[in-house]
Amino acid sequence: MALTSVESFHSPTEAAAVVQLLQQHEDSALIVAGGTFLHGLAARGLLTGIDALIDIQGLGLDNIAVDPGNVVIGATTRLAQIEQDDAVQQQAWLGAVKDAITYPPVQIMNAATVGGSIASACPLFDLPTGFLALNGEVQALGPDGSRAIPLEAFFSGLFENSLAPAEFVTAIRLPVPPPNSASAFIKLETNANDLAIVNAAVALTLDGANRCEQARVFIGGGTGETPARAGSAEDLLAGAVLDEDTVSGAGKAAQGDVDPISDHRASKEYRSHMTGVLVQKALRKAIARLGGESAMTNRQDRRFARRQPPAGLRPGMGAMKQVIQLDVNNETHEIAVEPHDSLLRTLRETLGLNAAKRGCDSGGCGCCTVLVDGKAVYSCMTMAMQVGDRTVTTVEGLGGDAGLDPVQQAFIDADAVQCGYCTCGIMMAAKQLLAENPDPDEEAIRKGISGNLCRCTGYQKIIEAVQMAAAG
Ligand SMILES: Cc1cc2nc3c(=O)[nH]c(=O)nc-3n(C[C@H](O)[C@H](O)[C@H](O)COP(=O)(O)OP(=O)(O)OC[C@H]3O[C@@H](n4cnc5c(N)ncnc54)[C@H](O)[C@@H]3O)c2cc1C
Ligand code: FES
Ligand code: FES
Repeated sequence: MALTSVESFHSPTEAAAVVQLLQQHEDSALIVAGGTFLHGLAARGLLTGIDALIDIQGLGLDNIAVDPGNVVIGATTRLAQIEQDDAVQQQAWLGAVKDAITYPPVQIMNAATVGGSIASACPLFDLPTGFLALNGEVQALGPDGSRAIPLEAFFSGLFENSLAPAEFVTAIRLPVPPPNSASAFIKLETNANDLAIVNAAVALTLDGANRCEQARVFIGGGTGETPARAGSAEDLLAGAVLDEDTVSGAGKAAQGDVDPISDHRASKEYRSHMTGVLVQKALRKAIARLGGESAMTNRQDRRFARRQPPAGLRPGMGAMKQVIQLDVNNETHEIAVEPHDSLLRTLRETLGLNAAKRGCDSGGCGCCTVLVDGKAVYSCMTMAMQVGDRTVTTVEGLGGDAGLDPVQQAFIDADAVQCGYCTCGIMMAAKQLLAENPDPDEEAIRKGISGNLCRCTGYQKIIEAVQMAAAG
């Protein structure tokens, strides 16, 4: 973790204390929620000069409240919690949210928060595009109390949001639309650890004559510094009968609403073309949701401004160790860590537990996967100080006096190991999968290990090993 100038790590339990800390440290404080995008920001040079980390996981903002007029999702609600929330899953109008969280790997689902997803102001993320289609409103708390910011006004530029100094996000509010509303989201990516090349979200409301009363269409991915509103597509949809001609016309219109970039992942022309394709697909999906339950249960289709270091503070200066207790493999360790030390570094270099491997060190390969309270996370993206009183399990903690864990034995029996660099991470992802789904089909296994790469590409034997472990 590249936050080597950090001197202190705070874990407040009151929202007012967060505001006070932000005021006290000004530009040199950084809020940490799931911690999954800190590498991404650091890699872009956006986290220099940070001397204080404020972990907001203890504020109790991890809840989803549903009332007749609103769904309010607390800032530290993790993506996996949304996936498990029946109220969200059953509503056709929330389809775009349901769809958006079918893409990230399990390690990101277990750690990434809604607030972090919004506050990062990254146009390549998925949930924000979905929330924009649903006319979301950010709830923020700061020195002057709380205020609501329409999400469209919240994103002010690439990685820039309109939070005032010492303000932070406490929740997102999604207003319940009129009856006969549905939404959908779709993303183009290369693999489960990839951010969107293009994504699209639509929200539709039909009138009594089955015409489109209102439509909201947003495009994310590399199509601008912030997700773009496809106004021409919305104009074309408003008042129209939603037939194939309208859908394909809206897709073409949306292409004119964006100005995509070209980069190593896709050309401007390809992104433009795919904008049209994805808008059409999202519209068809939302229309299906309005027409009945065919797509309601369809979850198969896939699922700061730049800171300058304060004068006199250089990276590497000032980081001070703090003593924490870490429960690893049923043993409590009292250890000194620097505030920015990753769990991976702590496991390997302080505790000598080398099963979790360092591959990419940035959430791209999964070979550092361990369980925190039974949930798979990337230990390279989790700070040791974030773990708190939760328990950590690594491969060294599997099995026992009676022998190897069934997952370990199955990997041997299925010959599912080549160089072995990915194996420990994949076994930990498999442990969570089998704990939650003792009899997974092949698709569920592929999804469960989609956040783990095997460079030796031995996926078939890995899948067989998980099937063998499930069979017992
Ligand atoms: C391997 C990988 C795969 C991914 N796949 C997907 C995907 O498929 N779809 C997708 O949409 N996204 C994806 N992401 C991005 C992921 O959604 C974000 O990293 C995550 O949502 C950020 O949330 P967090 O809680 O981890 O934020 P953190 O990393 O803790 O923080 C990110 C930024 O937001 C700020 N912040 C956090 N919470 C608040 C708050 N409440 N108020 C103010 N500021 C705050 C922090 O200060 C920091 O600047 C992926 C990321 C990785 C690493
Ligand atoms: S995901 Fe952690 S080392 Fe690659
Ligand atoms: S066995 Fe070599 S990386 Fe997977």
